[in-house]
Amino acid sequence: MCGIVGYIGDKDVSSVLMSGLWKLEYRGYDSSGIAVIDDGDLKVRKSFGKLMQLQELLQREPVGGSLGIGHTRWATHGEPSDQNAHPQTDCNGKIAVVHNGIIENYYTLKEELIKRRHIFKSTTDTEVIAHLVEEEFRGDLKEAVLKAVEKLKGSFAIAVISEDQPDRIVAYRKGSPLIIGLGRNENLLASDIPAVIGHTKEVVILEDDEMAVLKKDGVEFYTKDGERIEKQVQEVPWKPDDMDKGGFPHYMLKEIYEQPEVIRRNISLRIRNKKIDLGENFNFTPDELARVNRIIIQACGTSWHAGYIGKYLLEDIARVHTEVDISSEFRYRNPVVNGETLVIAISQSGETADTLAGIREAKAKFLRVLSIVNVLGSTIARESDGVIYINAGPEIGVASTKAFTAQVFNVYMFTLYLARLKWTIQKEEMLKRLSELEGLPDAIERILKRDDVIRGIAERFKDKKHFLFLGRGINYPTALEGALKLKEISYIHATGYPAGELKHGPLALVDENMPVVAIATRSSVYEKMLNNLEEVKSRGGVVISVVTEGDERAKAVSDYTIEVPDVPEYLSPIVNAVPLQLLAYHIAALNGRDVDKPRNLAKSVTVE
Ligand code: G6P
Repeated sequence: MCGIVGYIGDKDVSSVLMSGLWKLEYRGYDSSGIAVIDDGDLKVRKSFGKLMQLQELLQREPVGGSLGIGHTRWATHGEPSDQNAHPQTDCNGKIAVVHNGIIENYYTLKEELIKRRHIFKSTTDTEVIAHLVEEEFRGDLKEAVLKAVEKLKGSFAIAVISEDQPDRIVAYRKGSPLIIGLGRNENLLASDIPAVIGHTKEVVILEDDEMAVLKKDGVEFYTKDGERIEKQVQEVPWKPDDMDKGGFPHYMLKEIYEQPEVIRRNISLRIRNKKIDLGENFNFTPDELARVNRIIIQACGTSWHAGYIGKYLLEDIARVHTEVDISSEFRYRNPVVNGETLVIAISQSGETADTLAGIREAKAKFLRVLSIVNVLGSTIARESDGVIYINAGPEIGVASTKAFTAQVFNVYMFTLYLARLKWTIQKEEMLKRLSELEGLPDAIERILKRDDVIRGIAERFKDKKHFLFLGRGINYPTALEGALKLKEISYIHATGYPAGELKHGPLALVDENMPVVAIATRSSVYEKMLNNLEEVKSRGGVVISVVTEGDERAKAVSDYTIEVPDVPEYLSPIVNAVPLQLLAYHIAALNGRDVDKPRNLAKSVTVE
């Protein structure tokens, strides 16, 4: 949600800003804009709608210069429009601001500023920042921004430029992500690493209440009190190609196809010398983990589904009572906890506002927090006591795919690690389970080779208006994930149910117009699942099943089947999720949907 970029250097500023904004497009937005200092004048170009509209505007009305800021806006305060797009400017059109986050006290600040004769052009919360900086500006932009920020409540990452100090960009972070990219005779800022990776691999991640002043030949960092600080420079292990579609029509499809490689990478990182290694950021001691007697997993969306699978794993294998909660519920529900409760936050982006608030709630109750995160150095990773990174690489498609399977893989690794500490599995069993993992990447590859079968099924069902997804046991959350994938990218109504609940309601919906997608692979609940499918068939329902290769019984109760390799039950969600991802993808693509950027959704939900 909302992406900000900034550039100072010798390259064509508007092109650098635009290419950064394209890279941040995945976050979701409804308008965009840039501001540059061109020949001593502040020039702003902004537009409602897609980035292409801004690009066309820039072709009609080009701008030059050697520094600028840019923004993709996801409307929170004020409807999406040209006026409300960022950058926002002060009364004199000399200062421009881009902002990601929410200014909670903007209304009071705005009333006060209006009383002091400031003239507002937008209905955004952001515009107050431009006017506050204007009031505080006495020739030093850094000082003015520091003073303005003192008055702001809420979460924000901002970048500010002024035509009265045309050699710098001032950026400040409190609550919303902001990284600085360090180049040679050029420097950049952005909400996320993809926007700078084409220019530099050296980044500095700003912490809350830190400021950066970017000049062409260097970047200075300050605390909120204006004290100069040194920051650690990190090298990003990504190649610029990681950000490309690699010949696939959509990022989502590319990311689905990357799953064997992601799992292979995780196997090599997590298993060393036949032992589990949860990485250098894990930070929990065996003693404290052995004492954990209760786990609460909290997450949103797809990550919540990964957490739900975690509940089945942790309870069955490590024998630890585990609850799984949606973060927006967890943060307000005042759960019963004790000193031995561990909270696990799962998040691809590491920036989801509700999940972060859940972590803060947990810490307020003096609980220890482990997070399972994809994005290195993200806020959730930094605010947790320990982190397991899932090593999925950049995920651009809004609908999460490879991050989901990598999350489940890492939850499983944590489960086995904990199970050994709790003596709930023996060494031999552990070794057996670790060796079983080796077949996982190939199993996924086998499914990818059957993509044409799945596409054929998608063609047959693409016009249906409703889908029911059924699963049992550890594959009940997989069914929920299948339904979520379909609804978010195809805009077709889909709902996931535990198959045992069928006769308590959803069976009433079953007819030839409501396809039932079932996970019917061999498992401890296989017989029960087949009974449920018989129930559907005898009511005239149409069944599409994910079945174990060669399983004729499951085929007999299904109209269409997608075969997947036989894997141990606790690994089956990783395998079974893949055909459901492909089914959703093909239905959405065949319907001409904007697969990577579905309407109304954002990749990184940084507001509540
Ligand atoms: C958004 C994304 C989903 C994601 C969810 C949680 O809704 O569109 O793909 O699952 O946020 O995000 P997180 O980054 O915390 O996993």
